[in-house]
Amino acid sequence: MPRHSLKAVAAAAAALLLGAAAAALAPQPARAAEEVSLPNTHFSFEGVFGTYDRASAQRGLQVYMEICSNCHSLHLLSYRNLRELGLSDAEVRAIAATVQVKDGPNDDGEMFERPGRPSDRFRSPFPNEQAARAANNGALPPDLSVIVKARAGGADYIHALLTGYTDPPAGVEVMEGMHYNRYFPGHQIAMAPPLNEDQVAFHDGTPATVEQMSRDVATFLAWAAEPELEERRSLGVKILLFLTILGGLAYAVKRKVWADVH
Ligand code: HEC
Repeated sequence: MPRHSLKAVAAAAAALLLGAAAAALAPQPARAAEEVSLPNTHFSFEGVFGTYDRASAQRGLQVYMEICSNCHSLHLLSYRNLRELGLSDAEVRAIAATVQVKDGPNDDGEMFERPGRPSDRFRSPFPNEQAARAANNGALPPDLSVIVKARAGGADYIHALLTGYTDPPAGVEVMEGMHYNRYFPGHQIAMAPPLNEDQVAFHDGTPATVEQMSRDVATFLAWAAEPELEERRSLGVKILLFLTILGGLAYAVKRKVWADVH
């Protein structure tokens, strides 16, 4: 390759790198001009050493099972994964058994229903997308398995969305079958406010305010989207420790080896 084209390639690569760095540093562009900023919820799993609040995530599971699962699937999760949330085998079996899942065919070639088992994936509320839309005014309730990763703002957004239903401001007309929400892009969402005060009776006696249920289900969904977060962080800390010690050793060896050279 001639010299000048090598130079050109190097210059282009440098420009690309600079561009990427600038893009990473620049503030994220807003999705819509009228976007409102999300309230910061201060979840336990934020920060470098954050972990999931197990009690909150378990309450969030209860909210999902009793309310959200009527419309939203969670198809990447199996009931047995709930053991990682601190539930016992018996509790997991009991939760799985509360749903009926389709299985088969049996010896007669028929499909049949049976109680769920820990190895089953979370049961989807609708057999297919058309059925889901037909039951929801044409709108599709998205699968919630990785919704926390799929939306800007993550768990903060889920919490804000669930607490963000208000009357529309004067002059704004909400379309039929839609609901005004401060935090949904465009502000008109097909999901009716899913949470009402005291809609669930939490097993641990925590008062079920809309705020509490929203925070708990956002925690549960954050765990569902990234169950390995705690492991990843603790491995990261171990690696940093290892590198620090190795660095210290390397420096000590270097000083010893070069001690006689003046
Ligand atoms: C009665 C059915 C129903 C229930 C119950 C319900 N949802 Fe929804 N949900 C929907 C529909 C329909 C949409 C699609 C809305 C749209 O696109 O306008 C939706 C959308 C969503 C979205 C995506 C919003 C976005 O940014 O695209 C999230 C997150 C969500 N729901 C979370 C929940 C949670 C958490 C619960 C339980 C507390 C819940 N939903 C209960 C029907 C429901």
